[in-house]
Amino acid sequence: MKTLLVYYSRTGNTRMIANTISESIKCDIEEIVEKDKRKGIIGYIKSGYQASRGKVDHIEDSKYELSGYDLLIIGTPVWAGKMSVPVRTYLKKNMNKIPLLACFCTCGGSGIEKTIENIGSYVNTTPLASFGVKSSDIKDGTYNNMIEKFALEVI
Ligand SMILES: Cc1cc2nc3c(=O)[nH]c(=O)nc-3n(C[C@H](O)[C@H](O)[C@H](O)COP(=O)(O)O)c2cc1C
Repeated sequence: MKTLLVYYSRTGNTRMIANTISESIKCDIEEIVEKDKRKGIIGYIKSGYQASRGKVDHIEDSKYELSGYDLLIIGTPVWAGKMSVPVRTYLKKNMNKIPLLACFCTCGGSGIEKTIENIGSYVNTTPLASFGVKSSDIKDGTYNNMIEKFALEVI
């Protein structure tokens, strides 16, 4: 399957998981970029506010055209039990081009199921495969097993 992995990361966790997946399954990868980097406490508060209200914001144009792919893998941090605002914005912009979908999220410790459900219901599809990584899974290396399992489900 021709696969594109698209992710957003504010502090690097989702980026690390995204890079590991793309090396494992050899797919194209694109980071969602915003002009406003959501830095510091103001960035944190704004992000939580927008995420909990289901807002979208401005993102830079994509490098890859989604319509050429069979599978989209979406990666997002959990924000207030939901997908991040840049990911919601990407999905909204590409709503009529979304092929098969798989997704993953990273979080401090809670909101994985809700976030995966949030993504699926937003684009009105059931993800082919999904998983969530907690900060403790990053610390103890468990995330590697999760990625191996996920890779087998999407290739
Ligand atoms: C605005 C905001 C809201 C968050 N909400 C949650 C949450 O509801 N549950 C949780 O476990 N972690 C929450 N977190 C923590 C992030 O999901 C976690 O640190 C994630 O791995 C960050 O990914 P990143 O480094 O790719 O940005 C939140 C972080 C931010 C900035």
